[in-house]
Amino acid sequence: MTKLLNIGMVGYGFMARAHSNAWSSVSHFFETGYKPVLKAAAARNASKLRHFADMWGYESVESDWRALIARKDIDAIDICVPNDLHAEIAIAAARAGKMVLTEKPLARTAAEGLPMVEAVEKAGVPNMVWYNYRRVPAVMLIRNLVASGKLGRIFHYRAKFLQDWTISPDVPQGGQGTWRLDVDAAGSGVTGDLLAHCIDTAMWLNGSIDSVSAMTETFIKERRHAETGKAQPVGIDDAAAVMARFQNGSLGTFESTRYARGHKAAYTLEINGEKGSLSWDLHDLNRVQFFDHSVEGQLRGWTNILVTDGDHPYMGHWWVPGLIIGYEHSFTHQVADFLDGLKTGKPAAPSFRDALETNRVCDAIIASGKSGQWVSI
Ligand SMILES: NC(=O)c1ccc[n+]([C@@H]2O[C@H](COP(=O)([O-])OP(=O)(O)OC[C@H]3O[C@@H](n4cnc5c(N)ncnc54)[C@H](O)[C@@H]3O)[C@@H](O)[C@H]2O)c1
Repeated sequence: MTKLLNIGMVGYGFMARAHSNAWSSVSHFFETGYKPVLKAAAARNASKLRHFADMWGYESVESDWRALIARKDIDAIDICVPNDLHAEIAIAAARAGKMVLTEKPLARTAAEGLPMVEAVEKAGVPNMVWYNYRRVPAVMLIRNLVASGKLGRIFHYRAKFLQDWTISPDVPQGGQGTWRLDVDAAGSGVTGDLLAHCIDTAMWLNGSIDSVSAMTETFIKERRHAETGKAQPVGIDDAAAVMARFQNGSLGTFESTRYARGHKAAYTLEINGEKGSLSWDLHDLNRVQFFDHSVEGQLRGWTNILVTDGDHPYMGHWWVPGLIIGYEHSFTHQVADFLDGLKTGKPAAPSFRDALETNRVCDAIIASGKSGQWVSI
């Protein structure tokens, strides 16, 4: 019998829309035994919240997330607000016995994230962090191929996440939409915002990272604060270039910036092993490039795999082979796995504890960028 799962959404921005789409569509495509219900949404701006709730079909609204958590008819709290609010909301939700899902990064720092891990574990509530790129079918295929030993011993992992939207010094820091430039709200710049995705995928594909050496830069040193109008120093990293040593002996390089003119969301990754290589590009997210060294010499070359067949990860739930899917489906897959985890009792990853490890690596990157030294995780 299908159980109803009442969702309490915090926020109405970019991620609240992506998640609402996933919660509402999942049960049309995946039989998990659960049907999410968009029960209530909470945020401070009443008219924007009402508009969001009407657009997505939320049954009710709350002007304060505390009221949402206090409601008996809410099963799961979904946190889609700036990073500085994740900890307080998640801990309160766990203490109230709610399932908790939070957007990434888990927290601004690992020190802030640890009590969140302790709170969900003490309460024994299901928990998950939305590192959604794991659930792109092509990325899941890479994970399956690497785990099956297809690449043999791994030598290199490299990833980039490039954007260009903060080049103008007129972009403010703080406030709606530009909270990512305010270190108090975001915790860090591209490291926590973009590299965190690359690091999460990297450790999931290739194991733990032991140490990092990073070069970070803040190109624009002062920006107007959107709320006060006053110019103030910029505390975030605008760009980061990172060398990393993985526990399995392989070497990693990571780059992230919001100053790569022409790039909007250029997330690419590549992994090289003794038997082959695999690579992926978010802008062509249904494809995997595979080089298989075991193929006879004269036929050997990069194979372009369109990941849309029924036996590819998740794809049997969608249309017919050859028809592509998009960014939003990664969130639907993450919801499907979360609900499956409730049914089977095997929780979907990444849990809060898993995601804490990514925060630790991000902290080490920021520390290394400041000190110029290698930092152990
Ligand atoms: N998984 C991903 O790919 C991905 C992509 C974008 C953002 N994120 C993460 O999602 C989170 C939200 O980012 P976003 O892009 O949706 O931001 P956004 O600016 O679009 O939306 C933020 C929302 O938070 C709300 N908010 C702020 N303070 C609040 C408060 N005190 N109480 C209730 N609501 C409040 C705002 O009203 C707004 O609705 C961040 O942690 C970010 O890092 C993840």
